[in-house]
Amino acid sequence: MLNKKVSALLNEQINKELYSAYLYLDMSNYFEQRGLNGFANWYYIQAQEERDHAMLFYRYMLNNGEAVTLEAIAKPDKIFKADMDVLQAGLEHEEYVTASINNIYAEASKIKDFRTMQFLDWFVKEQGEEETNAHELISKMELFGNDPRSLYMLNQELAARVYSAPSLTL
Ligand code: FEO
Repeated sequence: MLNKKVSALLNEQINKELYSAYLYLDMSNYFEQRGLNGFANWYYIQAQEERDHAMLFYRYMLNNGEAVTLEAIAKPDKIFKADMDVLQAGLEHEEYVTASINNIYAEASKIKDFRTMQFLDWFVKEQGEEETNAHELISKMELFGNDPRSLYMLNQELAARVYSAPSLTL
């Protein structure tokens, strides 16, 4: 069994990851409407990855004998007026998730819950990668987003992203 507070935070994280999936799906939807199928693909895969993250937290809870409570997932309510708004919102969201993971890690560390810390190690690394990806996308958009031909090429590049299952299995 896990510590009560750590367990509650892990349970909340399931919801945060599912919300992330919902948010990225909405971003994918935005780009579908824009006719930028490569960007839509990129965010669609991002949504799939977030669903995977939720399942990893879910499975970790169950594997440790914890009951999971599934809460309502909030509506993604951001209004995107421009492509860059989406990219910025993606980065901000990842920073929020990183802080959330770090918070669980800190609680687990406080009570010497090494198993949870080890489980979270994968997410700490993953968050680093996700923030880097979000930064890179913003940089590329700043460089190429204002020129239609360059935007087309960038869209092609993002269309090539393929889904792969997480390297962490439980
Ligand atoms: Fe699962 Fe992008 O945080």
